[in-house]
Amino acid sequence: MNMMNQRTVKKKNTRSDLRILLAVLAVVGVVCVGYYLVSGWNSRPGSSAVRKTLDSNTPPGHKAVEERAAAGRQLFGTLCVGCHGKSARGGVGPDLTVSTYKYGRSRLEITKTITNGRPGGMPSFGSRVDKEQIESLVEFVITLNRVP
Ligand code: HEC
Repeated sequence: MNMMNQRTVKKKNTRSDLRILLAVLAVVGVVCVGYYLVSGWNSRPGSSAVRKTLDSNTPPGHKAVEERAAAGRQLFGTLCVGCHGKSARGGVGPDLTVSTYKYGRSRLEITKTITNGRPGGMPSFGSRVDKEQIESLVEFVITLNRVP
């Protein structure tokens, strides 16, 4: 009888030990997952800095910019080629592949040129195409200077 009792007690102890162990493991697990999520262990060190640099530089090969310029190329083909010529090398309107423009080659000036026109015969497109299309055209015109 005595022996039996001792054995039951021992069994009980092992079981509650196990339960404590499991509880501790669970707590450690939760803490680790929490720390993982909060601390940014999940990102490689420095990778967010690298990403930031890439975003702020927006290099010419950037996909969104390229897509916009491609849309601009299409519009140019229908709206501008008649005067500026195939490959924008000039016709009635000036060659747009040169590095300096009479009215400036900044994004702002090119936008103004296309939107409002210029007195020497450049028509205004502000009422014919929407803002996004003008942005595409500007993006395309900017790429022209990179054509050798
Ligand atoms: C009717 C003919 C004509 C059409 C169509 C035309 N242009 Fe022009 N464009 C000209 C002329 C002419 C000039 C020169 C204006 C001046 O010197 O005052 C010019 C000037 C420009 C300039 C300024 C160049 C500089 O040296 O500052 C840009 C940029 C330009 N055009 C872009 C475009 C784009 C983009 C389109 C199509 C959306 C377009 N043009 C359509 C005739 C045209």
